[in-house]
Amino acid sequence: MRGRLLVQNAFMVLPNGIVEGDLRISNGLIETIAPFGGLKPVVGEHVIDATGLYIIPGAIDPHVHFRDPGNPEKEDLESGSRAAAAGGITSFLDMPNTYPNATNRLSLEAKISSAAKKAVTHHGFFIGATTNNIPDLQSVQGMDGVCGIKIFMGSSTGDLLVHEQKHLENIFSNTGGIIATHAEDEKRLQSRIPKFKHRTDIAAHAECRDVECALIATKRAAALAKDYDHRLHIVHLTSGKEADWLTSNKGNLITTEVCTQHLTFDQDDVEKLGARALMNPPIRYTEDKEKLWTRLKDGTIDCIVTDHAPHTLQSKSVGFPKAPAGMPGVETSLPLMLTHAKSGKCSISDVVKWMCSGPAKVYGIKNKGSLIEGFDGDLTIVDLENYKPIQDSDTWTRVGWTPYAGMELTGWPIYTIVDGIVVHKREIGGLLRGKSLSLPGSTGRLIKFN
Ligand code: DOR
Ligand code: ZN
Repeated sequence: MRGRLLVQNAFMVLPNGIVEGDLRISNGLIETIAPFGGLKPVVGEHVIDATGLYIIPGAIDPHVHFRDPGNPEKEDLESGSRAAAAGGITSFLDMPNTYPNATNRLSLEAKISSAAKKAVTHHGFFIGATTNNIPDLQSVQGMDGVCGIKIFMGSSTGDLLVHEQKHLENIFSNTGGIIATHAEDEKRLQSRIPKFKHRTDIAAHAECRDVECALIATKRAAALAKDYDHRLHIVHLTSGKEADWLTSNKGNLITTEVCTQHLTFDQDDVEKLGARALMNPPIRYTEDKEKLWTRLKDGTIDCIVTDHAPHTLQSKSVGFPKAPAGMPGVETSLPLMLTHAKSGKCSISDVVKWMCSGPAKVYGIKNKGSLIEGFDGDLTIVDLENYKPIQDSDTWTRVGWTPYAGMELTGWPIYTIVDGIVVHKREIGGLLRGKSLSLPGSTGRLIKFN
């Protein structure tokens, strides 16, 4: 479905700055962007008066873990994409550690047809690498909806793992497209886990899965990219050391990302939040958090993601070290980053660069991520004036909680628009959850990658 819509009187976050004006979507595409008062409604047109609100391009979250297939009670493609829409995310890329793992063409095709029936936003999927699935990886190269190959170099949630050099070399030398690596070194990890067995304090997590674990794997992945001239994206950078190293070693084959939670939390938050803040790679220290901001601003880090990992509160309640790693975030990332912008950490245009045009550039997604005439009509219209505290009960994720519970956030999307159709709406001053307006599968399309 492609919509027709006129948004008037908004602050529009355009590629070259913020301009007050009007934006028209026709047949699902941004048709005209005009200065204030430039566009008049035509008969029958859906008109949004966005006085005081900001229009930004629909955000793209290129790193989520919906649990479909396998664990729909935690998150399926419908609940996950509704949560995304509630947070102003109009496109998501989903990771392969589902059950079964998405490691061959058949499982990718199944996800794609499931998303066509359930998702309300645009969507794409990673194929997971194993030690022996090169033909499968090759069989989906260039297929619509497949954004790249995910390699877990260190073990995390699920059983996907490729860490031996010979297997990694085999994958880098025999595949094309983008390889996205979870860079934690398995050998170092396994040598350290026994030493931390006696620790039940959560600070042990970052001590065990330490910066060195991440740095070794990041360097190994970068060397493979260079040796085999392969495009590489290093997912969720967590340490200042990795970020610093990449500044002078990134070259033009490598891109990288940071999670909202690694820009927001440090050791003190981990102490307070306990198992809710447990994830891999871990939340680290104040100096890491600050360095990640520095490297985001200087362009070393290309985009911001959530690593949305819906685990139930019940499973988290067993505490460290038994609780599973990961936290939800797809519906809070944009307000969280806009709240950082309002507090002076960065500009609103920075947030748009890191959450909209940045991910589009990294993954070669055409016609998304910027407010440009002719681009897809994916918009998020946000309120940057009102702050609202978020609680677990406000969330759309099926696991029903957020690590940011109790935080006052601004930048809540009032309208989330996919192809010119409003898929999620909030009232200013109304309930924070707002309303999901799309029927499953009626909005959003499979993303094509170049
Ligand atoms: O903390 C994490 N949770 N890290 C990952 O790599 C996977 C994720 C999950 O799927 O739960
Ligand atoms: Zn992840």
